[in-house]
Amino acid sequence: MGRLDYLAYIKERMPQKRYMHTLGVEETAMKLAKHYGASVEAAQTAAILHDVAKYADVAWMEQIVRDEQLDMRLIGWGSELLHGPVAAVIATREFGITDEDVLNAMRYHTTGRANMSNLEKILYVADMLEPNRQFPGVDELREMMYDDLNDVLEACVKHSLTHLIASGIAVFPQSIECYNDLMSSERNL
Ligand SMILES: [Fe+2]
Ligand SMILES: [Fe+2]
Repeated sequence: MGRLDYLAYIKERMPQKRYMHTLGVEETAMKLAKHYGASVEAAQTAAILHDVAKYADVAWMEQIVRDEQLDMRLIGWGSELLHGPVAAVIATREFGITDEDVLNAMRYHTTGRANMSNLEKILYVADMLEPNRQFPGVDELREMMYDDLNDVLEACVKHSLTHLIASGIAVFPQSIECYNDLMSSERNL
């Protein structure tokens, strides 16, 4: 099982636009991993599979949360929040992936969390800044990508949370924990 198997599997489960996004995340995550000394292969696997559950049935994903005893806070938050943790389950079930760092990068790519590993940070940033992404401020964030991983992560998390709050969208507790962790580790420098 390798890249082409993963790509064939995901291509059937997402629209072309999301597939192109995935290839962009793969490219960006691999560049970031090389630059910051993380495993390029781990970054590639996590990137290709991170959105595999994006279009899966919500009730099916909620059943996985119950069956696999995942974070029950996910129930009711819809596919936007469910698809990361469920992607990790699919990666193990379908492809036998057991590397916890790869699985965690998939699990937390949308929310972030406190104490993220370098691979988790890389996938979060790559997901947000891959070449197909377009939103106000993306260019400024992209310019920071290769300067400091923690700085660009912090800027991305702040951007995401600010956008959610400005739009009146609820923020999942793990994203707040991620933000607080980044702010408190800055205080402790
Ligand atoms: Fe995603
Ligand atoms: Fe994504």
